[in-house]
Amino acid sequence: MSAMSEKLLSVQNLHTSFFTDSGEVQAVNGVSFDLDAGEILGIVGESGSGKSVTAYSVMRILADTGKIKEGRVLYKGQDLTTWSEKQMREFRGKCCSIIFQDPMTSLNPVFTIGNQLIEAITLHTNRRGKEAHDRAVELLEMVGINEPERRLKQYPFAHSGGMRQRVMIAMALACEPDILIADEPTTALDVTVQADIMDLLEDLKNTTNLSIILISHNLNMVTERSDRVMVMYAGRLMEIAETKEIVENPMHPYTIGLMNSLPDITQEGQKLTAIPGELPDLTSQKPGCAFCPRCSRAMPICSVEEPELR
Ligand SMILES: Nc1ncnc2c1ncn2[C@@H]1O[C@H](COP(=O)(O)OP(=O)(O)OP(=O)(O)O)[C@@H](O)[C@H]1O
Ligand SMILES: [Mg+2]
Repeated sequence: MSAMSEKLLSVQNLHTSFFTDSGEVQAVNGVSFDLDAGEILGIVGESGSGKSVTAYSVMRILADTGKIKEGRVLYKGQDLTTWSEKQMREFRGKCCSIIFQDPMTSLNPVFTIGNQLIEAITLHTNRRGKEAHDRAVELLEMVGINEPERRLKQYPFAHSGGMRQRVMIAMALACEPDILIADEPTTALDVTVQADIMDLLEDLKNTTNLSIILISHNLNMVTERSDRVMVMYAGRLMEIAETKEIVENPMHPYTIGLMNSLPDITQEGQKLTAIPGELPDLTSQKPGCAFCPRCSRAMPICSVEEPELR
């Protein structure tokens, strides 16, 4: 493979399962996608569709019962699924970082912001002492926090939710990763703060060539912010395309269903069209398209094999 054609991240036929008392939960079932340098890839889908497990598989931070059964996760051409835990610790932080929905549970309440940020810096870089401190200040400035010197001495509870999420982003960026995975990064925040955090992520992408995987069940937010969008359902990839394509010309009936279930803010009092039915049982998967039982446009072939999108 030439260096030119090498993708930053390439997930190929990923299968991830959890082995539980009630059987094997096939959480991710044959998902493939690429991530380019400097792009935002959105992942959308209903709760339980496998968005987080896809991200956790890339970072290899699955629960003990979870296992990547099949497939490859190529980072700059190298297969992470074969890496040792020691190599993965380097990967997490230096190559790829993740931020979660609730910044309060990710920050330790008994240490100052400075303690935690400087620890992240010294853990993953050669910076020590004043150099680490200065880097912490620089990171807080980068994520739009005023008076960073003062903020470093404060505890997490002294910060608003939006401020804490900015701190988490600063920690995630401490060792300049190529990839940031943002798993529902704004769900716990109110709407105006959500927009600020998303502006920040977009700015970072534009100024640092950071690639972002943006996970959310908020289709509006994802289509507004992403270069490409991937739609998941029951652990499978339903559709992946440029955002404009997905918005203007969704192909899969599930994507069309998701689009139709969006409230139209121009029409007051309009009801959400929910997609009838519920997610299938992930312990006993059948052949064919996973959405088939709920699809208003299903054809006999759909219960046999996944239809081609056209
Ligand atoms: N530790 C686990 N043990 C067993 N099953 C799990 C575990 N973690 C996730 N799952 C299952 O895997 C499937 C996918 O879960 P995942 O968390 O990826 O969904 P999601 O798309 O991120 O949903 P949400 O929007 O609610 O965050 C679900 O059916 C879930 O119950
Ligand atoms: Mg999730």
